[in-house]
Amino acid sequence: MGAVVNGRRMKLVGGLTVALAVIGGLGATGAAAAPGTAAGPRYTAGAQGAGDAYFPYAGNGGYDVQHYHLDVTYSPPAPGAPLTGRLDGTATIDLVATKDLDRFNLDLRGMEVGSLSVNGKPASVVTPPAPGAVIEGAAYWQVQDDDARVWELTVQPRPKLKAGQHVQVVVEYGGATTRPEDIEGALYGWVTTADGAMVVGEPEGSMTWYPVSDHQTDKASYSFAITVPEGKVAVANGVQSKPEETADGWTTWYWDAPDQQASYLTTASVGDFELREAYSSSSGVPIIDAVDADLTPANLATTNASLARQVEMIDFYEEHFGGYPFVAYGSIVDDDTVFYALETQTRPVYSRRASEGTVAHELAHQWFGDAVSPERWQDIWLNEGWATYATWMWDEHEGDATVQESYNDWYASEDADSDYWDLQIGDPQPLGLFQDPVYDRGAGTLHALRLEVGDEAFFAGTRLWLERYDDAAGTAEDFQAVFEEVSGKDLDAFFQTWLYDQAKPPATWTLP
Ligand code: TRP
Ligand code: ZN
Repeated sequence: MGAVVNGRRMKLVGGLTVALAVIGGLGATGAAAAPGTAAGPRYTAGAQGAGDAYFPYAGNGGYDVQHYHLDVTYSPPAPGAPLTGRLDGTATIDLVATKDLDRFNLDLRGMEVGSLSVNGKPASVVTPPAPGAVIEGAAYWQVQDDDARVWELTVQPRPKLKAGQHVQVVVEYGGATTRPEDIEGALYGWVTTADGAMVVGEPEGSMTWYPVSDHQTDKASYSFAITVPEGKVAVANGVQSKPEETADGWTTWYWDAPDQQASYLTTASVGDFELREAYSSSSGVPIIDAVDADLTPANLATTNASLARQVEMIDFYEEHFGGYPFVAYGSIVDDDTVFYALETQTRPVYSRRASEGTVAHELAHQWFGDAVSPERWQDIWLNEGWATYATWMWDEHEGDATVQESYNDWYASEDADSDYWDLQIGDPQPLGLFQDPVYDRGAGTLHALRLEVGDEAFFAGTRLWLERYDDAAGTAEDFQAVFEEVSGKDLDAFFQTWLYDQAKPPATWTLP
């Protein structure tokens, strides 16, 4: 749903200029027809990307998704067999056209579409037409270019769609599941595991298991019916909308995630989970944990101790950041691993164990990243800096290091001549998204900001940021504007130093 909350201030930093050039080219599938001229056709193609410079084909343009209903059947690998499974799904996608559309795209990777309809009218599969070629009638086609990392499903609806029109797209699809990798070679998406699947989509891996506009500028609500072999447990976002049902050796799990949700935060993990009885936060948020039955005793002990702190952590964060933003919470802890945890909305996924620090980190992301998402992937420091800083705050609350001590330790950890300072955390590039400075220089930025504007403005600004961009996304420039508004200060030089200068910031904020 409605994602871009305001116009972007065009502070041309880093790769943005380049970005616009790239997207200009991309959006122009119907582009032979000089966009913007009166002679151009009324109905045009929706853009193949949401406009993100880092992932130009992630997300799409020309429509706004309202809801995804994902009905999927999954067979995990047989015991001891290679790590491939089989997924067959029907995605029912409710969307609203935002312009007059001749065609529009969805993202889908490694899955083949078997049938597709728009408002009940079936489309025929065709081979991808040459640019400018005319295709008669309702049609769809897929482009899957692994080398170029382009995975697009194009839909040509007939009749064409008018701006403002609500439509339902039903896609039947399926394929072998693998262990997909992100741009830097980390596992993500529908990661097939020995006992099921770990499903973590950051940044654009959700397209490995359902057709989607895979970018956080188009949030939507979700519902799920996930059918797995009897004995397996499927855990998605939100709450169980009704009890699971078993017939003929298959169990269907029903989940409902009514909050606006970015695609990368969707999960439907499958495994030998123990689904624990729901309990709740002091404020009444239901907490549903799913813990793999096969964790090692040491990992289970660590996990149980950490999960037992979730209620206190929610209390602590609610005090500072405002009410928990979603319908439910809880953790999925898998004995398998993607080597990182992810803040999947309402229900983070952990590899092998959930440590207390990681639980504090993923919970903080529910406010910072999930409720308010980075409008562009270059804004990732707003996610990781905040999750790291919130964990510093939790440590302080626990009587461990104060936030100032954590800041000082971090500041002292790298000399001024270290290449650590080369990464521009405000524009880290696709391969820099999850580099250390994004996390701890990001946290340092927030602590320095707190000292710069004072505690009162810092927490007022934090609340304003979370309220203003709730269920949506914002940029670093939006963030700066909020803190300028609450503090009355010009923060251009501050954010230049912290987000873009390839140098160690001065010791100004290192208090004794
Ligand atoms: N966003 C995750 C976190 O910090 C981390 C993450 C996602 C990640 N994808 C990754 C880390 C790839 C390393 C590699 O909670
Ligand atoms: Zn994180």
